[in-house]
Amino acid sequence: MTNTSSPAGIIRCKAAVAWKSGEPLKVEEIEVDPPKSYEIRIKMLCASICHTDILCWNGHPLPLFPRIPGHEGVGMIESVGDKVTDLNKGDMVMPLYIGECGECLNCSSGKTNLCHKYPIGFTGLMLDGTSRMSSINGETIYHLFSCSTWSEYAVVEARYAYKFDPRVSLPHASFLCCGFTTGFGASFREISLHKGSTVAVIGLGAVGLGAAKGAQMQGAGKIIGIDINDSKKEKGKVFGITDFINPRSSGKSVSESIKDATGGLGVDYCFECTGVANLLNEAIEGSKVGLGTTVFIGAGLETSVELKYLHLLCGRTLKGSIYGGVRPRSDLPKIVENCVNKDFDLDELMTHEVSLDEINKGLEYMKHPKSVKVVIKF
Ligand SMILES: NC(=O)c1ccc[n+]([C@@H]2O[C@H](COP(=O)([O-])OP(=O)(O)OC[C@H]3O[C@@H](n4cnc5c(N)ncnc54)[C@H](O)[C@@H]3O)[C@@H](O)[C@H]2O)c1
Ligand SMILES: [Zn+2]
Ligand SMILES: [Zn+2]
Repeated sequence: MTNTSSPAGIIRCKAAVAWKSGEPLKVEEIEVDPPKSYEIRIKMLCASICHTDILCWNGHPLPLFPRIPGHEGVGMIESVGDKVTDLNKGDMVMPLYIGECGECLNCSSGKTNLCHKYPIGFTGLMLDGTSRMSSINGETIYHLFSCSTWSEYAVVEARYAYKFDPRVSLPHASFLCCGFTTGFGASFREISLHKGSTVAVIGLGAVGLGAAKGAQMQGAGKIIGIDINDSKKEKGKVFGITDFINPRSSGKSVSESIKDATGGLGVDYCFECTGVANLLNEAIEGSKVGLGTTVFIGAGLETSVELKYLHLLCGRTLKGSIYGGVRPRSDLPKIVENCVNKDFDLDELMTHEVSLDEINKGLEYMKHPKSVKVVIKF
């Protein structure tokens, strides 16, 4: 079936471009191609900053430059490719970084969100291996996960777009595209948390706060929040933590502190949400011998870590997670419903707001002790 609204031509618009690792982003005019057959072009209305954007800006895991960061946001479809059947010009969508075909080996297993047909794109290019963005001088610009929401217009695969629910505010929808959902979903998609479980969450950013809230809603008993920033104690309480440990003032290692707080046993479930490489060992060691599971979510500047295998050998489980195991079509609608029902209050995450022109100020705000989420308004 052919979609009747044919794509317009190239659009010139403003975007935040990372030209070199860690250097201030340049807000400049770029060119955005029309969408190809199975793609859509979106006029962004709102976006936000996730820690992973900062990693990409610093050239991790791959130094792809020039590049436009951003993988959280909401926008209105400006045009659609000729083979897009279920989305139309004018629809509001959230561009996601994974899709769900529902039919591949992984999708049909029901156990993972890592679809083979619509995978997470680490290459900075669309599924066909090309980019839809270029500088005014014609230089190819890389996408981030085929999203690049820090641009007035973005082209994404239609199957990676999730229809926006108008009962949710634009910033809340943006947070659901990655950070909060990643932690929240991990508590029921990556593990089967039993009632009364003990839980530790290392790192209380949007991801960790999501993990704490998810654990609380799944019936966890003790939820220990761990962060080097004391101001995360009160924020953590809002999202369900029952205990707080600052490793810098406790004078103990994270695993020792977790054991102290759990009668020496460690926790049933530990969520690593900082991306600080060695904390993965601490997380594993802080979980129960024989029973404990660590969910590894944080990604960091160090791309490898030496695992202390003895801790893992003692019957503990380590599970890696992308987007909390959340399947866009099968799981996200329920989480959106949770948001509409105010089962969690995403206003509590929103600490700063900037315009696209002020993106570098937004990146500075991310270092602020009270910062959780920076919203970008267009
Ligand atoms: N796997 C995924 O799908 C996925 C999705 C989103 C984010 N991430 C990653 O998850 C991590 C968290 O993302 P975020 O947006 O919440 O980040 P954030 O920067 O907002 O939060 C990180 C928190 O960890 C704390 N922290 C830093 N170092 C610490 C230490 N040594 N000990 C204890 N706490 C420490 C910080 O104070 C902060 O509160 C990042 O590494 C990000 O790249 C992964
Ligand atoms: Zn699939
Ligand atoms: Zn993210």
